[in-house]
Order: sequence, then C-alpha cells, then structure tokens
Amino acid sequence: MTDILTRPTQLCADLPLQVVPSASPVDAVRRSEILAEPGFGQHFTDHMLSITWTRGVGWHDALLGPFAPLQLHPSTAVLHYSQTIFEGLKAFNLDDGGLAVFRPDANAARFQRSAARLAMPGLPEDAFVAAVEALVSIDRAWVPSGGDRSLYLRPFMFATEAYLGVRPAHEYLCLFIASPSGAYFPQGVKPVTVWLSEDFVRAAPGGTGAAKTGGNYAASLLAQEQAAAQGCDQVVWLDAVERSAVEEMGGMNLFFVFKDGDKVEFATPELTGTLLAGITRESVITLAGEHGYGVSERRITVAEWRERAADGSLTEVFACGTAAVITPIGRARSNGGEFTMADGEPGPITTALREELLDIQHGTVDDRHGWIHRIG
Ligand code: PLP
Ligand code: COI
Repeated sequence: MTDILTRPTQLCADLPLQVVPSASPVDAVRRSEILAEPGFGQHFTDHMLSITWTRGVGWHDALLGPFAPLQLHPSTAVLHYSQTIFEGLKAFNLDDGGLAVFRPDANAARFQRSAARLAMPGLPEDAFVAAVEALVSIDRAWVPSGGDRSLYLRPFMFATEAYLGVRPAHEYLCLFIASPSGAYFPQGVKPVTVWLSEDFVRAAPGGTGAAKTGGNYAASLLAQEQAAAQGCDQVVWLDAVERSAVEEMGGMNLFFVFKDGDKVEFATPELTGTLLAGITRESVITLAGEHGYGVSERRITVAEWRERAADGSLTEVFACGTAAVITPIGRARSNGGEFTMADGEPGPITTALREELLDIQHGTVDDRHGWIHRIG
C-alpha cells in the first residue's frame, strides 16, 4: 500500500476501501508542536478508518476519512451493555528512514479472540493489518521520532445497533484511530510503586479477563483510585479465587527475575484465562530465552514475591505492555505493608531488555524474529 491516495485499495477480498482525505488537516506548525511533546492518548491524527458489520451482509463500507466525532442513538447497545473490544499497537520511524508497525498480525489475531469472547463478528486478520497500513500510510507525518515516541494505534469495535434487548447486536462499527504518544507514565522510566489489590478482583475464571474488552478496565477504576490514594501508580491484580496468585496490572503483564547463584529464572504468571496474553509479554519471553535465562510461566504468589524480595533472591520486577514498553517496579504496597525490589532502582536486566526491545522496534538492530511490519 505505497500510495493510499492514488491506488484503489481492498482491505481484503470483497472489502474495498474508499479514501476521502481530510479537507482540514492540522497545520504543520501545530502538528510539530504536538509531536515534540505528545503525552499519551491526548492528540489524534487527521484521519480514521471505519468499517461496518451488519447481520446478513457481513463487513462493508470501509472508509478512510477525516477524523471526526461520532453520532450515536441513545439506545445504542454498547452504551448499555458494553459489547466492545479494542487493541493497542504502535508505529515507529525506523533508523533507516522507513516506517513500521510492531507485530500487527499478533494484534489482529487477539482482536479476533476478543471478538469471539464478546459474541462479536471477527474482522479478518488481513483486513485488520491492511487497515493499520492504510491509516499509518495516510497519517505518516504524525509518527513522532526519538526516545519513547511512536504513533499509538487504537483499533476498536462496538455494538451500534439501537436496541435495548440483551443479546449480541446485529450491527457493529470497527474503527481505527491513531494518537502520537510519548511515555505512558508521566515520570518516564522511573520505577513505579504498585498496589496489591486485596479488596477488588479484575477477572474471574470463566469471565472476560483474557479479552481486551472495556468492562475489564471499567471494573479496575475503583481499585486504581484506591491505589492512587495509597500513593501507588498502578494496581496489581490477584487471582479471584484464592486472592494469593499474582495475575497482571491494569494494562501490563508482569515479570520477576529470580537469582539462585549463577542461575537466573525469568518468571511470569501463567495464562490461566483470567489475564491478557500480552504481545510484549510474548516478545520478552522470546528475548529472555535467547539470552539463556530460564523462562517459566507459572503461578507466583504474593507470599513468594514478599519472601524472595526479603531474602534477596528476587532481584528485579518489571511490567510490560505496548503503551508502557518495559517499566521497572521499585516498590509494592498492600494492606500488609510495603516491600522494596532490591534497592528500588531499575535493574540491569530490565534496562537491557527495554533497550533491546526499543532497538528492535526502531530498526536499530536486526529484526531476526520478523516482528517489524514495514509500511511502504
Ligand atoms: N494486560 C492488560 C490488561 C492490558 O490492557 C495490556 C495492554 O495491552 C497488556 C496486559 C499488555 O499487552 P500488550 O503487550 O499486547 O500491549
Ligand atoms: C496498551 O498497552 O496498548 C493498552 O491497551 C494498555 C492501556 C491501558 C493503555
């Protein structure tokens, strides 16, 4: 998709894409001010891509057009019953002058899995990737360069049928929007303090924890407020049944680095169905394995976390996700008190992995895994 404006484009078989460029794009001076300090999720590009699904018709009316507000009927199903899913992925300017998106195929596959759990239609994976390519292509001037900066892409889909009965909707809108972004945490890569939530749960067995759906995030907000009131940056969720195993954070997966003599164990909570299968998580597992660390996906309890932080065999803990990249965790707090990870500073393995991941994403090192999806 080298020139989105001059060539007719298909998102996939039977789904042509109509392109209507914005007649009033943000001017170049304002755009460069935004790109110099983008923050996270506050600014949006000139375009968005929309695709409609209707029962009996399937996917239709794919349009890459000006970024604009939506108008919804007050009975629109998603506003009442939360039938909605989303994804998050990033486009980067490469060191060689190219442009690329990190692992869009993995997001396309997860979007399908989330759709299935929410009884929604699956967007074909090739249409998802082509939609990402088309939006990044037309708004390439919005991709910031350097440091932690990227163009954050937010594909999402929701029930648009105007109907108050409770059942899977008969109509959906799938949208792709893009937001230039810097560091997710305002303090940058400084270690965060986390709150172990013992009062609330995010996801229970058989629930929607493994899907990227709005309700999981709505359910997390009160606990996030409680964490903030305790002086913490983020919530760590525990399993719903015993409230003893560590699951994940509000928008990130967790890794623990344990040392036993020369042996390093890289442990992360196993995917039980109640936590999200992060794409960064999977990438970190691959990189850690290549460095010769013993990687384990297993049950990690708060008791083990506390004990091994105290006896010194837990040397580093970090969170990872698309928005947060790799963020060190310095301290953990709960009703039972506070404990510190080693000296509370970013550990060497966390720092090295973060740099390696960013180097891969920016094309500074060889893309030996085929994770970089170049946009022509
Ligand atoms: N866990 C949750 C609940 C998330 O929202 C995210 C963010 O997408 C992650 C984990 C990390 O996933 P990924 O690395 O695919 O961004
Ligand atoms: C992402 O990292 O893409 C997410 O969706 C996390 C969100 C909380 C910003």
